[in-house]
Amino acid sequence: MEKNFSLRELNTFGFDVTARYFQELKTLDDVKELLGNSSRFLILSGGSNILFSDEFYDGFVVYPNLKGIEILEENDETVMIRSYCGEVWKDFVDYTVSKNLYGLENLADIPGKVGAAPVQNIGAYGAEVKDTVYQVHTIDLVSGETKVFSNEECQFAYRNSIFKQFGVCSLKFEVRPLIYAVDFKLKKHGELKLDYGNIRNYLISNNITNPTLKDVAATVKAIRAEKLPEVGVVGSVGSFFQNAIVSMDKYQEIKSLYPDVPSYPVDDHFIKIPSGWLIDRAGWKGHRENHVGVWDKQALVLVHYGGGKPQEILDLMKKIQESVQTKFGVEIKPEVNIV
Ligand code: EPU
Repeated sequence: MEKNFSLRELNTFGFDVTARYFQELKTLDDVKELLGNSSRFLILSGGSNILFSDEFYDGFVVYPNLKGIEILEENDETVMIRSYCGEVWKDFVDYTVSKNLYGLENLADIPGKVGAAPVQNIGAYGAEVKDTVYQVHTIDLVSGETKVFSNEECQFAYRNSIFKQFGVCSLKFEVRPLIYAVDFKLKKHGELKLDYGNIRNYLISNNITNPTLKDVAATVKAIRAEKLPEVGVVGSVGSFFQNAIVSMDKYQEIKSLYPDVPSYPVDDHFIKIPSGWLIDRAGWKGHRENHVGVWDKQALVLVHYGGGKPQEILDLMKKIQESVQTKFGVEIKPEVNIV
């Protein structure tokens, strides 16, 4: 266990945060050694979806980093693969794409690690990880019990799961499952998802008429690189806010004023409006104040240019939320975990 450990390299916002206690976990036995020590654990994975609100984290940060990828079983149609939590997500996706396995190609280049993928049901370009997760292996940090969550038990929803509801810190709940491995069921023959946004246009403009799995992964990477700040170069956590889910009445009201408002269906009563569009239309895109700002190619992304403090992001977040509330009457909620 380390004391007063710098998390600067372990949060993609790049804030200079110090943890009172820190421990990397490389094996399940490392986890067992922790038991009984304290129940005040914060589980930190790739650090690409977390904002520490203060520069000192007065608690115990555990950093699960178990490695390994195994093919568990295989038939003519599907392959079951287990990845341990510490594998880097984008490398895992590249591995499955190189093996011509369908299911994760639209999730290429998402920052973070495999163990965190189910927590907020990561999604991009018309795909969500929930559609490939077979089961999730956990160990409870308080009792040491292991439990396997089936896909259904994970209660996946848009940017949500039972693990997200447990919270990032263990204090709030009696049970705190740490995800140490995830089993994915991938297909040997699948259909490519090309309908989201500009995937199809991008393929056409590159003269790819009969795209392969690898073409789709490469396209997603290219589109991401155009829109999102490069991890490790500019501090960010990808989307800072969730997209807004509003009533049909609210949507009609906005649409009557802004006929070009983009939207995605949710159910008969609610509809999703991209928060990036709302923030953009409220005039924030490219805005910069001191060390932080709103990314000029995607308004959903708040950035830290270096040398700043978490409070600057929190202040900017509040101003944006208030402005969107005033202009559209819509509440936008953070997607990032704020601790
Ligand atoms: N838009 C604007 N201005 C902006 C940003 C977006 O007008 O500044 C409009 C776009 O023109 C488009 C719509 O909003 O019509 C949606 O934009 P985009 O396709 O870029 O996706 P998003 O809804 O803003 C979501 C995910 C991203 C994911 C993309 C692509 C959430 C919170 N975010 O963003 O995920 O990469 O779709 O699938 O659902 C992340 O979670 O960190 C993340 C980057």
